[in-house]
Amino acid sequence: MILERDVPLQTYNSFGIQAKAHRLVRIRNEADWLAVLAEPALAPFPRLVLGGGSNIVLTGDVSALVLKVEIAGRRLAEETPKHWIVEAGAGENWHHFVEWTLDQGWPGLENLALIPGSVGATPVQNVGAYGVELQDRFHSLDAVRLDDGTSFTLDAAQCAFGYRDSVFKHQAPLNANGQVEGFGLAGRCLITRVRFALPKSWRAEISYLELQRLAQEQGVSQPTAQQVFDWVCSIRRAKLPDPAVLGNAGSFFKNPTVSAEQCADIIAREPNIVHYPMPDGRIKLAAGWLIDACGWKGKTIGHAGVYERQALVLVNRGGRDNPATGGEVMTLARAIQTSVYERFGILLEPEPVVV
Ligand code: EPU
Repeated sequence: MILERDVPLQTYNSFGIQAKAHRLVRIRNEADWLAVLAEPALAPFPRLVLGGGSNIVLTGDVSALVLKVEIAGRRLAEETPKHWIVEAGAGENWHHFVEWTLDQGWPGLENLALIPGSVGATPVQNVGAYGVELQDRFHSLDAVRLDDGTSFTLDAAQCAFGYRDSVFKHQAPLNANGQVEGFGLAGRCLITRVRFALPKSWRAEISYLELQRLAQEQGVSQPTAQQVFDWVCSIRRAKLPDPAVLGNAGSFFKNPTVSAEQCADIIAREPNIVHYPMPDGRIKLAAGWLIDACGWKGKTIGHAGVYERQALVLVNRGGRDNPATGGEVMTLARAIQTSVYERFGILLEPEPVVV
């Protein structure tokens, strides 16, 4: 275990925000974490687990001990009659892992191609795109507790997945004695390995409108996984900025849900609003549409801006040399929240973790 000091974090967050970690340790296996725990000088510091840095806004230098997860490895963990159970280290790049599974002949993750970030971060927000959510392909994960280094395994039910949500995003309440009590693992563990159950009876998931359109254009009714992968990559490249070129953290806000009555009320005022009924009777609204309707597309505050082709994505317009600060990104985010609230009565909830 090597403790690094004053480590620049600009290349470790997809916004490209400049900030330093006063103390950083690279975690390449469970033993690295046990070594940190055994070091009394590091005990006083709170911990910040950093994966691919694709869902984080840094608002200043980080005084917590940064645990940079670099656990590598990918393998077929098990083959059952119905599934290939494929495992990846938390530090593996997500998109490269998806490509690798397809190369091996194990389809199932193709709709989640090009999502930036690391494998270990994907269960935290239950990433989803183009008709597939991580929970649809998830098998189990291994993690270590940050307080005593104990390893444990969780299945899908224990991860409590929801829309861009999981047990890892919830803070467990403390009881009167200051002990953790109840649901929530936020800030309490580090995910080390994730396993996926990839179905042998694979069927292409192309119900998403833009995929259907591509299938029709190309006259393909039963695409291969590689074709779906290529289509998803082309749709994403057309409307989402590549963080290597223009810093961003993907969708900055979750798509909000409202009751059917609230939605009817909004439709009466805004007949064109994009809305999708959900199985539970609530209605999901497109946050990108709400932000766009408030005139934010292409707007800039300081060096932070709203992407021209998708209003849900905030971008760093200052590049590497003159990047947006986390403060500018958050000022822009709050201004957007205020105008959407004033016009629609809906409070947008940010997706990234603000540090
Ligand atoms: N829209 C606008 N203006 C905009 C943006 C969107 O009018 O500036 C409209 C679109 O025309 C469309 C609707 O809003 O009718 C929804 O837009 P889109 O299909 O692009 O999907 P999204 O709701 O913006 C979600 C995920 C994305 C995921 C796509 C595809 C969230 C917060 N975002 O975006 O995830 O790739 O669906 O499945 O759920 C991410 O989380 O980082 C991410 C990119």
